[in-house]
Amino acid sequence: MSRGLVTFLCGVVFCGVMNAQGFTKVDFQRDVQPILKANCIGCHGPAQQMNNFRLDRRHDAMRGGTIAVIAPGSSQSSHLFLRLISRDTIGMPMPPTGPLPPDLIETIKKWIDQGAEWPDTASGETPPPPPDPKATRLMDALRSGNSSAFRKLLR
Ligand code: HEC
Repeated sequence: MSRGLVTFLCGVVFCGVMNAQGFTKVDFQRDVQPILKANCIGCHGPAQQMNNFRLDRRHDAMRGGTIAVIAPGSSQSSHLFLRLISRDTIGMPMPPTGPLPPDLIETIKKWIDQGAEWPDTASGETPPPPPDPKATRLMDALRSGNSSAFRKLLR
């Protein structure tokens, strides 16, 4: 093997390791949602919404309850994170039963710092129903003034 190739391969391996450790991108569905489901949803989910706050739906979580709780890009200004580390001055630490293990807190911190990306597929919100194809064709015929097609569709 040539020296260049060896250097190249080492680089690839090194980068792979670095990616696996330092710069991993936190994935909401894979890394964050399971933590919320296991530790928070019981009090902030479909059944109960303590402080009018729920974490099972993106829209509600990002809006927060009485204040903005998740500030994408800044864990330090996110009440959700400050509560995890018991530094929030406005309320009790979360979860009330005792802090999460440090690695889970770190995952949530990274997720918020990386922009708190919460994909549509995990939003917990029901998508609008798909338009009825027949109604769509009817509207098209109406718009284009195609009266024979319109009448045919109505029948
Ligand atoms: C045993 C029930 C319970 C669990 C579990 C729980 N919470 Fe809470 N949470 C509460 C109560 C009660 C309040 C309101 C009291 C307060 O604000 O101090 C609250 C308030 C909050 C608020 C403030 C919302 C606002 O708009 O003011 C945040 C953020 C929060 N919780 C995050 C979490 C997170 C994150 C978890 C999981 C790691 C969690 N909670 C787990 C009961 C719970």
